[in-house]
Amino acid sequence: MKIEIDDIGVRFGGLWANRNVSFSFEGPSITAVIGPNGAGKSTLFNVMTGFIKPATGEIRLRGERISGQAPEKVAARRIGRTFQIPEICHEMSVRDNVLVGAHRHIRGNLFSQVLNIGASGAAEREAGDRVDVILKDTRLYDLRDRPAGTLPLGRVRLLEIARALASEPELLLLDEAASGLNSQESAELAAFIRTLPSRGISVLLIEHNVGFVMELASTVAVLDHGQLIAVGTPEEVRNNEAVITAYLGKRKS
Ligand SMILES: Nc1ncnc2c1ncn2[C@@H]1O[C@H](COP(=O)(O)OP(=O)(O)O)[C@@H](O)[C@H]1O
Ligand SMILES: [Mg+2]
Repeated sequence: MKIEIDDIGVRFGGLWANRNVSFSFEGPSITAVIGPNGAGKSTLFNVMTGFIKPATGEIRLRGERISGQAPEKVAARRIGRTFQIPEICHEMSVRDNVLVGAHRHIRGNLFSQVLNIGASGAAEREAGDRVDVILKDTRLYDLRDRPAGTLPLGRVRLLEIARALASEPELLLLDEAASGLNSQESAELAAFIRTLPSRGISVLLIEHNVGFVMELASTVAVLDHGQLIAVGTPEEVRNNEAVITAYLGKRKS
């Protein structure tokens, strides 16, 4: 699996939120995009998942363009994502929230299928079994009947990931998954994310929290003011002058 981000440019009015952004990675692997607030990280994710059409450039999965297509089309290419602000359904149980992800995969339909669950036999049961495995993997199984809105943030982040995994992605995009988590929660999350490549799932992490990605990612891309200023191993990026000035320097101050 190869992803190529090729000369991506996105403009909001007079502002280039992404400009000439190019890098590529091969999976299964963990790659990170870091950068200060407003650097254009979420914008790049939105391009990769079809929520924004770029003004320039394209994104290719296995050589085929995926940018500029509708989000459902991109999801159907087995690219899953979470959002910076979790988009779970608070009233629904933890398990039903994950089932939504499984149904999105089966029929490309967000909520309607969950309302008549059990109606269509084998596919439903297969989805249910898959969801239970994911709930166990993410240690949410014991909480499966709780309304999702009653979970602490650490569990909500895992729930969002569980839901994305239910659509069986081969590339999972996580937008600030560790944000707002305490150190134990983020350590648990990191331990879980680390298991994904061995299951054939590539992860692209967007993080503001540099420490979190440095221990997880094999490749780190750094955005600043919409532009890619460095890409390399965590060690290379950590020692890059432009990165220290643009980002790490700011964090220390
Ligand atoms: N829908 C939008 N309309 C106008 N400006 C936007 C929109 N989305 C993002 N921006 C601007 O684009 C820049 C990059 O934003 P974003 O990609 O969210 O950054 P990051 O995720 O790195 O914090 C910011 O200056 C932000 O204000
Ligand atoms: Mg963001």
